[in-house]
Amino acid sequence: MPTIQFKGKSVIETYHHTVPHHRLEFVPKPSVLPKGEKPGLDGNLIIEGDNLAALKSLLPTHAGKVKCVYIDPPYNTGEEGWVYNDNLAQQQFKEWIGQTVGKESDDATRHDKWCCMMYPRLVLLRELLREDGAMFVSIDDNEAGVLRMLLDEIFHVEMPLATFVWKRRSPSGMRSDPVSVDHEYVYLYAKNRNQVTLTGLVRTANEYPLEDARGRYASTDLTVGMTEEDRPNQAFTIRNPRTGKQYRHNPDRVWRFEPGTMKQVIADDLVIWPDEHPGEMDRPRYKTYFDPKNPKIKPVSSWIENAVSKSHNVDDEEDLQTIASGLNSEGGRSLKRIIGAKVFDYPKPPSLIRSLVRLATTADDIVLDSFAGSGTTGQAVLEENAADRGHRRFVLIQLRHDNKEQESKGINVCEMVAAARIRNLIGGYTSTNSKKQKVAGLGGTFTYARVGEPLFGEYRDFGKNLPTYEDVAKYVFYTETSREIDLKKINEKSGLIGSTDVAGGTSYYLLYTPNRTADREMSLTTLKQLVKKDKRKQWVIYCEKIWLHPEELRQFERENGKRIRPMLVPFGLK
Ligand SMILES: C[S@@+](CC[C@H](N)C(=O)[O-])C[C@H]1O[C@@H](n2cnc3c(N)ncnc32)[C@H](O)[C@@H]1O
Repeated sequence: MPTIQFKGKSVIETYHHTVPHHRLEFVPKPSVLPKGEKPGLDGNLIIEGDNLAALKSLLPTHAGKVKCVYIDPPYNTGEEGWVYNDNLAQQQFKEWIGQTVGKESDDATRHDKWCCMMYPRLVLLRELLREDGAMFVSIDDNEAGVLRMLLDEIFHVEMPLATFVWKRRSPSGMRSDPVSVDHEYVYLYAKNRNQVTLTGLVRTANEYPLEDARGRYASTDLTVGMTEEDRPNQAFTIRNPRTGKQYRHNPDRVWRFEPGTMKQVIADDLVIWPDEHPGEMDRPRYKTYFDPKNPKIKPVSSWIENAVSKSHNVDDEEDLQTIASGLNSEGGRSLKRIIGAKVFDYPKPPSLIRSLVRLATTADDIVLDSFAGSGTTGQAVLEENAADRGHRRFVLIQLRHDNKEQESKGINVCEMVAAARIRNLIGGYTSTNSKKQKVAGLGGTFTYARVGEPLFGEYRDFGKNLPTYEDVAKYVFYTETSREIDLKKINEKSGLIGSTDVAGGTSYYLLYTPNRTADREMSLTTLKQLVKKDKRKQWVIYCEKIWLHPEELRQFERENGKRIRPMLVPFGLK
């Protein structure tokens, strides 16, 4: 199979292993948390910062847990102003760092830079996916070919599970391009093709509003968009057996069935006849019954006019039409209505992302978007939850600034656009449309976090500056429990850094001292001290030295009814 080559590949292929773990620092002010609720990594999360560091920092808590990834990375059009920023030591990367990636004519390595930026992020995203998880990636012709080769390689496949073609705008005669390109793509890859579940698009009985003795049904078209020249055998006259009224085919839209099948359909009383429903329809229609045993909809790959859901803030006829086809213009309008100003170029339409979220998730799944922009994916998740009373969670990661101009103006896109949008959607807002409607909140919470300092040096040592006891304790506690530590409960002397209550309780210990010459050990003496005070069944003990034989440990466990998991810092850190 052909493989992709690009400048920097040999270095970048394994780069994700050496990206340091960074602390994720909770920021209370932009968060939306009910009084008394602590910020945490296990609910909705907006992370400000570079997604490479953020994805790496999420591994301990989220690896193998994300059901759906949706990303919409910079398309490398030459207009976005994205900046190559990955801090690799090799000279070539040093030359690239901090440079805005421009147009084809300005920069011969612009595609190499894009590949080097994407590769480690895609690898980490795959690691975060659940075995039955799905990843969707938006892209246009600028990097569609390159991206597909990257993804094929990283997902060890020869092609995507599907390539959705999504119509993003109305055709325009104004542009200078020889062809008016009105679509882009969404690639779908599965962590594991044999296990992926795409069951979210389920029809419910509510979509079948009519009812007769056989059950609920919907009135659907009895014709198809073919002419009598295309399909002469589907062009004939049909007759209502009860009234004798005849209906000739429409030369531009022939019947859906050939004569033999149509005869059976009529005999089975599956046709709704206009003469029996005066004023309701001009042409005979077909009864499509709800089948609760087979409620799935198989999605098609061309999304030209079939976005499956409407957006939260639809409020006039014109919107209904645009939103039904999910064009890019919906994205801008939706965002402006929620946060009041045009603050972000080309946000995706919520209906598009909702459709993807609906396709790949059910009510309790995690959805991750590591190029979150204005936070459309968060909106899609909140809206899907409101529609089916689900508890999906989102994780959004977004840089502070899209480009150098925003940086110089101090515009923090993550906080001022993405978080502001989600806050309004949760709590309710006044739409900035002409009617200034009050839009009710969808409810929910989120924690806002920032990518902080690296916790450890490269290669899992403690680096030049030893982290404080508190820093390591925070990291250990949240990698073990997915929760933020309660610093007031830390007891550095005994080493107890926190506990959980499930299954007889688990205590977490950290026997570490930020001193290169002294190691804190786990020995029989330590365990005997602990057992005097700690009644919990499980102990997880992070220490710098294990100073007892495994058999002594097993015996201690048996005698005291404990289960003990010793872990070495820093190398045993998850
Ligand atoms: C095309 S936009 C995404 C738009 C988004 N889908 C929406 O609907 O608003 C891509 C975003 O990714 C962000 N981005 C680019 N590189 C990033 C990185 N390394 N870490 C985090 N965000 C990044 C950019 O700042 C930009 O806002």
